[in-house]
Amino acid sequence: MKLCNVDDLKPGEMMRFEPDGMDPILLCNDGGVFRLVEDECTHAIASLSEGRLEGHILFCPLHGGSFDIRTGKAASLPCKMALNTFDVEVRNGEVWMID
Ligand code: FES
Repeated sequence: MKLCNVDDLKPGEMMRFEPDGMDPILLCNDGGVFRLVEDECTHAIASLSEGRLEGHILFCPLHGGSFDIRTGKAASLPCKMALNTFDVEVRNGEVWMID
C-alpha cells in the first residue's frame, strides 16, 4: 500500500493513516529513515500522532510515556507494552507499507 511521497514528510514529522480494515498507523520520519508503527498508545486510548517525535523516541500526548519507534518497545513509563511495527520501503520517491 502506498502511503505518501518521500517529500511529504520531513525529518521529525509524522503522518497518520487510517487504512481500510486495520487500526490507524503512524508513519514517522526518523532523520530520513521512515518507520511505521500503530498509532494508538498501548497504555490507554490516545493517538500518538498528537504526541511528539524526538529522534527515534515517540512521546504520547496523554501521560508522556514513550516508545522507541525502531523496535516499537516502550521507552519510558507508564508505557510498558510495545507498539506493533510494520515494514516500510521507499520505491521511486514513494513510501510503501509492505505486507
Ligand atoms: S495513554 Fe499514552 S502514556 Fe498514557
